[in-house]
Amino acid sequence: MLKTLVQTFVQLLGEDVRALRRYLWLAVTYGLLCGLSMAALVPLCRLLLAGEPQQAWPWLAALLAGVLVCWAWRSQVEQAGVRVGVAVLRNGRHCVGTHVARLPVGWFTPQNTARMGHVVTQGMMAVAQLPAHVFTPVISGVVTPLVLALVLLALQPQVGLLALVALPLLGGVLWCTARLAAYADRVFQQHFAQTSQRMVEFAQAQSVLRAFQGEGGGTRFLEQAVERQHQSALRLMLLSALSVVLNTWAVQTIFVALLAVAVWGLAGAGVGAVAASEAVALTVVLLLVVRFIDPLLEVASYSEILRSAGGQLEAVREILDAQPLPQTATPQPPQNAAITLRDVHFRYAPQATDVLRGVNLHLAPGSMTALIGASGSGKSTLARLVARFFDVSQGQICIGGVDVRQMSEAQLAGQISQIFQDSYLFAGSIADNIRMGKPTASAQELLQAAQLAGVSEMLERLPQGLDTPVGEGGAQLSGGERQRIAIARALIKDAPILLVDEATAALDAGNQAIIAQTLARLRGQRTMLVIAHQLSTVAMADQIVVLEAGQVVEQGAPAALLASGGRYAHFLAQRQMAKGWRMTSVASEASH
Ligand SMILES: Nc1ncnc2c1ncn2[C@@H]1O[C@H](COP(=O)(O)OP(=O)(O)OP(=O)(O)O)[C@@H](O)[C@H]1O
Ligand SMILES: [Mg+2]
Repeated sequence: MLKTLVQTFVQLLGEDVRALRRYLWLAVTYGLLCGLSMAALVPLCRLLLAGEPQQAWPWLAALLAGVLVCWAWRSQVEQAGVRVGVAVLRNGRHCVGTHVARLPVGWFTPQNTARMGHVVTQGMMAVAQLPAHVFTPVISGVVTPLVLALVLLALQPQVGLLALVALPLLGGVLWCTARLAAYADRVFQQHFAQTSQRMVEFAQAQSVLRAFQGEGGGTRFLEQAVERQHQSALRLMLLSALSVVLNTWAVQTIFVALLAVAVWGLAGAGVGAVAASEAVALTVVLLLVVRFIDPLLEVASYSEILRSAGGQLEAVREILDAQPLPQTATPQPPQNAAITLRDVHFRYAPQATDVLRGVNLHLAPGSMTALIGASGSGKSTLARLVARFFDVSQGQICIGGVDVRQMSEAQLAGQISQIFQDSYLFAGSIADNIRMGKPTASAQELLQAAQLAGVSEMLERLPQGLDTPVGEGGAQLSGGERQRIAIARALIKDAPILLVDEATAALDAGNQAIIAQTLARLRGQRTMLVIAHQLSTVAMADQIVVLEAGQVVEQGAPAALLASGGRYAHFLAQRQMAKGWRMTSVASEASH
């Protein structure tokens, strides 16, 4: 595990891994220098206690010089540590950013997005601060005692041996207590991400929450999430404190054991008066034992910070472990705009159940297919698979006779334009957003697309016209307005395939008409796969496909299906009833 954490850290550093190497070299040398200058205490004390101060002078000078060098060296170590931290911040975000940019579109679920936000902000900061604030005392806290243990070995073998054995034992204790708190930390991070997600949801869905749950009730989900986070934070704090206490106890146990062995060594010499030379030897050993223990206590106190930073690194690792969709080395161009699905199975997670189960479909070039089925039957999933938001779990999807996995990203993107329910607009003007469909579009083309998609109508209300900023995510526009811009974007892009996920609720009658017009206009020119909710759309289609629990249960031309009296006929009867209701409600609204 330690290895993967180190690898993650190195990966975050990217090309600046040299800065880490330099820092490590400086930090280890610093620990050695500290140990060696403390070792100068041995001859110094011996000579002073033996009453030979003149001969002690050179050692005193050596000790002073050692302290000065350590002092200067430490500042070098700190600077190198800060440089590593800066490199982590600079490259780490870039590394995570470029990685997620290659991940399949389907990866961007609300949970993953919240987790990524947490990692890029808090996580990266915690990791970047490690070298300057934590690694230095920890590295010198291991190297210095090691040097002192060797000196002790030379002075009094039993004590030295015990000190040497104690170091890996202490490492074991630190590891165990770290695992104790690591679990609590994982749970806390999970709850933290959930709470962030709930917070965003709470802010965005205020109107819905208030409408359905009253003013106070709207906070219930958020409160539950906050309560869970509170509980897990409490547990984490308790376990962290406990592990620091256990670590400190472990160090102090070592200290007592070393003292006992040192004194026992002396007592073994006899019961009578202690010889002066032995008293000197004991004093020197005890002095070294104290200097040996001090840095270890510091390491013990840093163990929790190290562990929690390890948790952050693990979260980064999880994101970096998500695999981009494999890209072929020999991309093949599609022959035409036909779409073929062969025995397509798909599940969102390896342990989940299949959302699509053996779907076979053929959409001839330039034909229009209406996909209908109950909520959750897998319609949107099917459309997403054609656009390769994910790869199928089994089977094959071909465009123009070529498996979508055998096409380059650019080739596939060039084939497809899409109007999905959650069309995202980028901060920029309306024109910028439409132009994303075709960056080289002329002003003429832009106007034409805007006109066709009904964007022109809304421009009359906006003083800045096409240059009106849409706000982040299109926040300054209504849902219907966003949808119109998304339609214009899809229209301006001359892709031979159009995927449409008709929204049920977000569209007003005006927008529904625009979608219907758009589809009617493009009929015969593009291969269209439309997840249809409107009767007019369904009736327009060359082929209707009824999906039920991930399987195609009915398929054929509208008239044929109607005649067969199956599910489509049933759907039609239902919709006509609903439409009748809608017409009267519109009519009564109009009369007001
Ligand atoms: N990102 C996702 N992760 C896990 N499961 C998902 C995800 N998206 C959809 N599902 C599940 O897959 C199934 C099919 O969903 P899908 O969105 O394809 O249905 P749909 O037919 O489009 O429904 P609707 O008419 O309500 O839009 C549902 O059970 C849904 O819970
Ligand atoms: Mg859907």
